[in-house]
Amino acid sequence: SQTVFYGAVITPDSLSHYSAYPRCLLCVGASGDIDWLAEDVHDSAVQDVLAQHGAQDAAFVELKHGEFLMPGFVDTHTHAPQVPNIGSGGQDELLDWLSNTTFPMEAKFADVDFARRAYSSVVRRFINSGTTTCCYYGTLHLEATKILADIVHSYGQRAFVGKCNMDRSSPADYVEPSATASVAATEALIAHIRALAGPPLVQPVLTPRFAISCTPPLLTALGALARADPSLLVQTHISENVAEVAFVRRLFPECASYADVYDRFGLLGARTVLAHAVHLDDEEVHLVKERDAGVSHCPTSNFNLRSGICNVGNLLDHGIKVGLGTDVSGGFSTSIITAIQHASTASKVLAFQAPAASLKLSPPALIGAPVVPTFSGRQLPLATLLHMATLGGAHVCGLQHRVGSFAQGKAFDALLVDLRDSAGNLGLWGVDGDRELGIGEGARGTLGAMLERFFFTGDDRNVRRVYVQGRWIGGAEQRR
Ligand code: GUN
Ligand code: ZN
Repeated sequence: SQTVFYGAVITPDSLSHYSAYPRCLLCVGASGDIDWLAEDVHDSAVQDVLAQHGAQDAAFVELKHGEFLMPGFVDTHTHAPQVPNIGSGGQDELLDWLSNTTFPMEAKFADVDFARRAYSSVVRRFINSGTTTCCYYGTLHLEATKILADIVHSYGQRAFVGKCNMDRSSPADYVEPSATASVAATEALIAHIRALAGPPLVQPVLTPRFAISCTPPLLTALGALARADPSLLVQTHISENVAEVAFVRRLFPECASYADVYDRFGLLGARTVLAHAVHLDDEEVHLVKERDAGVSHCPTSNFNLRSGICNVGNLLDHGIKVGLGTDVSGGFSTSIITAIQHASTASKVLAFQAPAASLKLSPPALIGAPVVPTFSGRQLPLATLLHMATLGGAHVCGLQHRVGSFAQGKAFDALLVDLRDSAGNLGLWGVDGDRELGIGEGARGTLGAMLERFFFTGDDRNVRRVYVQGRWIGGAEQRR
């Protein structure tokens, strides 16, 4: 049971380049992997190409003008139990916001019925936003986080699911009793997730909430778990807010920096996902690069909680892996489209506000060769936004060989995007977008314009179908 799609396809190649094919044949095999692609096939040659591949009997999906396929979004950082809080609490900065808004909501997930109801709609919402791979934080509760993993698994999304480790600096009714209990619950969650039936789309992830909420014995034990099982991903927060950084320095006076805390405990490696990284100093940037850890850029949250602006261009110029995260409910949207918009705005603010600072080169003594700024001090190009939202995010969570772009042998994790309004027009509502906005047939520039329009004016209504591992699991068409 193969499926062949015929129409426009957009896929990232690198930070600076993407490919866009107006007439692509893309064949998905029974396993859900991509069997083959033919990049430019004229209408009259379609049957011949299908015959060449022995795919005459495949189900055939022809895309209309205004539709295209792209890889699904990778959300490298979000909090499933905070979705009920979305859009509230943004008057506080991070530490007050955690106390006043976040911990009281997360504490409710002690109730497994509440957890089941909440997570059922939360996961549906992330899928319909176009997120095919999601790095989820649960709460500190084992049972509720098992339920989260079960729901993600049953809906067919690809994901990492972790329960928060937090045994200090937290409210009395929302804190783990000991490092030992925290680690035991973590091991139980890992076993539960690895026992789920079928292809392993859901994987466990170690989730020390942040350095502030973990005692040294807890960090030590988690570092040992990570060392013993190199297949485990680690996700945490780093250097999001100035008061948070100061608190970490007080709690870990023996460490040289926030990044050094995670490094000393064996939690900074090639499979570590660091959310935010807004206030890293130069030495921390080099340490993150040296360890090959990835950064989850969460600009919606960084604006909303007044945390600051991450200099993503500088991280990219240092060769650090960067993906996007929604960080709900620090961020007020479950959609990576919103993160793309804010990542673009953040880069524009840096470009016009502090050109001298953002173009600053790292001291050559620290790194040997000077870093040539390609991205620093400039707005992020469309290709870079696409990359961070898909393949870059896949790199951050170690899935770059499976997802994030379209290539033979990769999983078909994809969005069928539909830019037409309910009257079938492209672009502005009530205007004949096809003609008046210059979106015509063919050329690569045309598909680029469509992608840009999707990123800056699109939402979940334009995410018509969501596929993971070849399976159609959500999107607006199922809601019609
Ligand atoms: N740092 C520690 N916990 C959290 C959280 O839940 N959200 C954000 N944005 N930062 C954190
Ligand atoms: Zn977060």
